[in-house]
Amino acid sequence: MKNLEREEIRDIKPYVPGKPVNDVKREYNLDKVIKLASNENPIGASPKVIEVISKNLNSFNIYPDGYCYDLRKKLSEIHNFNMNNFCFGDGSNEILGMLTQSFVNHGDEVIYCSPSFVEYNRLSKIMGATPIQINMAKDMKFDLNKILDKINDKTKMIFICNPNNPTGTIVTKKEVGEFIEKVPKNIIVVFDEAYFEFAIINKKYPDSLEYQRKGYNNIVTLRTFSKAYGLAALRVGYAIADKEIIDALEKVRYPFNVSTLAQLAALTALDDYEHVKKSVEIVIEGKNYIYSEFDKMNIEYIKTDSNFLLFKTEKLAKEVFDNLLKRGIIIRPMGEKLLRVSFGTMEENICFVENLKEVLK
Ligand SMILES: Cc1ncc(COP(=O)(O)O)c(C=O)c1O
Repeated sequence: MKNLEREEIRDIKPYVPGKPVNDVKREYNLDKVIKLASNENPIGASPKVIEVISKNLNSFNIYPDGYCYDLRKKLSEIHNFNMNNFCFGDGSNEILGMLTQSFVNHGDEVIYCSPSFVEYNRLSKIMGATPIQINMAKDMKFDLNKILDKINDKTKMIFICNPNNPTGTIVTKKEVGEFIEKVPKNIIVVFDEAYFEFAIINKKYPDSLEYQRKGYNNIVTLRTFSKAYGLAALRVGYAIADKEIIDALEKVRYPFNVSTLAQLAALTALDDYEHVKKSVEIVIEGKNYIYSEFDKMNIEYIKTDSNFLLFKTEKLAKEVFDNLLKRGIIIRPMGEKLLRVSFGTMEENICFVENLKEVLK
């Protein structure tokens, strides 16, 4: 049974998620664990979502609507795009995979900056393509000029993570406007906007849908219900793009990929934008608190337009991460001395800061 797997995937490392709460409870014999590792919503889903789900528990025997009609209709009204400009996924991660499966050939090149969402690398390699990782610009944001420099005949797809995970930085309206004009129209530019709702309060943040409305039909916009809407466990994300791109995605989409409850939850969540606003406010409060504490502690960090923060410690990240785990706090090591923390409730943020002070002593 040795060496049966495709050569392309032989050296690929499986995706490593943030450590689950129950693993840490078990391993360290702890009753209470705080997870600030996966950029989740600390106040959970809207109460309206919880109510609607609890009233719809009698539908498990029937397959979901694979077309996601109600959700599609509602989103098409919200965004003012045609219903056939949407494709739905089991989280936006699934759509990233559908994009590479539909468009990226063996030998193609896929460009993005690094550090960014690790899936761009893994999904490109699965297709036998070459990921071209470009260093971030000095201010730790995507270097769109360097991306333009790397474009050649083999380039098939460009990923722009905006805001970028894990740096939290954005590329601006002006930068994107200049960039998109110069990208050849046979290259697909994917704007991964998983953290859109946190960034939109920054006036410089570009909404990539605007460029689609202007006629750039090589753009894909990705959004998710996992972050600001608090539905990470239910798994719903979507793409908005030109119909030709959507038709290709539909060819590789698994049937019934978004569950009935997930569709219902997303539909209901769209009716409670107050909950999203409240979630964003909590994130901003947490951000201001951690900025001010980190300033006092002389910890270097990158200003973020998202619900997480990348910071640097003098001690090794692995050591800081392990010592916080023992104290029941899960964050994410991101490099030799870099760590990422998601903003939690104020109580969680205070607990994180107090424990970090101890760990860094
Ligand atoms: C930048 C980015 N894109 C996409 C995703 C995937 O999210 P989901 O599949 O839950 O929609 C994540 C998750 O952390 C992310 O950080």
